[in-house]
Amino acid sequence: MSIPITFAVSLADERDRAAIYAIRHQVYAEQLKQHSESGTGLLIDPLDEVNQYIAVKCSGEIAGFVSITPPNARGYSVDKYFARSSLPFVFDHRLYEVRLLTVTDAHRGTSIALLLMYAALRYVEALGARTIVAIGRLELLQMYRRAGLEPLGRRVKSGEVTYDLMVADVRDLLDRAALFDAALSRLQRRLDWQLSVAPFRRPAACYHGGKFFQAIGDDFETLERKDTIINADVLDAWFDPAPSVVAKLAAHLPFALKTSPPTDCDGMRRAIARARGVPADCVLPGAGSSDLIFAGLRHWVTPRSRVLILDPMYGEYAHVLEKVIGARVDRLSLSRTRSYDVDPGELSAHIRRGYDWVVLVNPNSPTGRHVMRHTLERALAQAPATRWWIDETYVDFAGPGQSLETHAAASANVVICKSMSKAYALSGARTAYLCGPAGMMDELRPLCPPWSVSLPGQIAACEALKAPDYYRERWEETAVLRAELGDDLRRLGWDVVPGCANFLLCHLPPEAPAAATLAERARAHGLFVRDVANMGTAADARLLRIAVKDRRTNRAMVNILRTITARSHVTNYVDASEIANSRSMTARSSSVCSSSALTYGSIIATGERAASTGRSSSRRSASRRTPSGSRSKASIRREAKAPTAPRRDQRSTSTGDAGKLGC
Ligand SMILES: Cc1ncc(COP(=O)(O)O)c(C=O)c1O
Repeated sequence: MSIPITFAVSLADERDRAAIYAIRHQVYAEQLKQHSESGTGLLIDPLDEVNQYIAVKCSGEIAGFVSITPPNARGYSVDKYFARSSLPFVFDHRLYEVRLLTVTDAHRGTSIALLLMYAALRYVEALGARTIVAIGRLELLQMYRRAGLEPLGRRVKSGEVTYDLMVADVRDLLDRAALFDAALSRLQRRLDWQLSVAPFRRPAACYHGGKFFQAIGDDFETLERKDTIINADVLDAWFDPAPSVVAKLAAHLPFALKTSPPTDCDGMRRAIARARGVPADCVLPGAGSSDLIFAGLRHWVTPRSRVLILDPMYGEYAHVLEKVIGARVDRLSLSRTRSYDVDPGELSAHIRRGYDWVVLVNPNSPTGRHVMRHTLERALAQAPATRWWIDETYVDFAGPGQSLETHAAASANVVICKSMSKAYALSGARTAYLCGPAGMMDELRPLCPPWSVSLPGQIAACEALKAPDYYRERWEETAVLRAELGDDLRRLGWDVVPGCANFLLCHLPPEAPAAATLAERARAHGLFVRDVANMGTAADARLLRIAVKDRRTNRAMVNILRTITARSHVTNYVDASEIANSRSMTARSSSVCSSSALTYGSIIATGERAASTGRSSSRRSASRRTPSGSRSKASIRREAKAPTAPRRDQRSTSTGDAGKLGC
């Protein structure tokens, strides 16, 4: 197998500069005849005192370079040719000149020119540039145009070379760089990027739920609005933290707020280790699992790593692996016809291809499906040379004994990422930990900042781990509430994936609006649900995820959803946004909308009555309810084990093999 050539991108040091001046002489004096040749064989100009050069090197030799002139008292190279007053851009502290883009003979026709232009852009952006000015050789104008530089039609002849003056807004160039995404990704795998002022990729933020804070107000001035909305777009616990957690924090709140926490979370680490039965040096706490995902994966995974992930899966992983790190990511597609279960045979076939990392969420989000511990242990045994990152944020909802933490602690290659946000109702406290081989935890520990978990967070985590009975009861109640919610949603005609966590993934029926439209309409009623179109490459537009809440809130959610989907039957004919140019229809639509101003506040008052009316029509479910109206745990367990009733069009392919899975 041929080894791909690696390019190092860095700021030129003194030795590099000597080589650059020699190449400049060869190209601009000897070949292009812009300058007369000098006896020194070097081409230097006065701006070199203030210029920076970005160099691309291949096997230690300069393969190309570009010069950057920052704002400075000497001015810019364009000052030699044009009067500033005649130019249509501002000369200020945010104007940077990029010039002398040069690729050596041996590397012409490669992607080095693209790499140099992109490196210059990332560099000046990091320094605060707003505008880039450049002069480009006439013959190369098309290339510069493609990159987003705009020729101003102001030409100048220097020696035998004609240049055109070009200018561009840095933000426009960054937007334009998206056109070169695929080429840059390919390049990234062969790069040793040493420009420390900016990472190679400009990571876009990963999309998460949490839009409900727009309704509450993220300056917290109107925090009481939290009682008027339902935040089912995030998967926070429906229950409160254990009373002992709340009592301890309440008793010591001023101290907890004003005091520096233990630097390395050592007490929290010991509390986790005790609760999980693993050595304390196999545990590494962090400020929520997102903190640990960014720290751990960015340390262990490189652009050259090959990584397998599930599809669909919690989006932060694809974001960090692909957008932030630039790793080579393959996806194991989970199909609706198999209820999004991970097929162990397919997983084995994939891991035989030899991955550096396999990253799984188990139970998975947004599907809620779970691979049983013993099944996963068999897969781990097949790939001892692969490193495994298993996110067990929702494992407590899948029943006792399902965590692989003890396995990971005793292994050389398995890391469990455990958020305490959902199962321990601590999302706001930002508490999580990694559990894995002591060697790997030791490697990462120095890279985690001190005091990463706040003192309220550390206190809450320690206290929560001392209340296992309280939490176990809540996890069991979650199963009951989830099954009730699932029943109610199915009665709306929705196809509900039988998940085992604190949320449900639903396929909306064809007559309902698309998930994004439905989520937007629900928002007008104070209900926030999650359109999951961006959580997988094949996620369809009718896929919605909804968090399980307490019974009263679940009923209110169903009532809102019933209202807006009932309206959507009408809307299919009358909604102006969906049927263009139909004025009379628009009029009917708006009258339908205004007659149903149903909000969470109004629903919560009437929700119980409305929900119980709906339910009485279902004799089958009613017979399985306990006298209090909730369903018996035994009936829920029976249902959780059973596969989804396959839809008519799925019957021949649905596996329904509940035995190999937790749900
Ligand atoms: C699978 C998974 N891991 C991690 C997180 C984030 O957890 P934390 O609050 O600890 O950052 C989420 C949040 O939704 C999640 O679904």
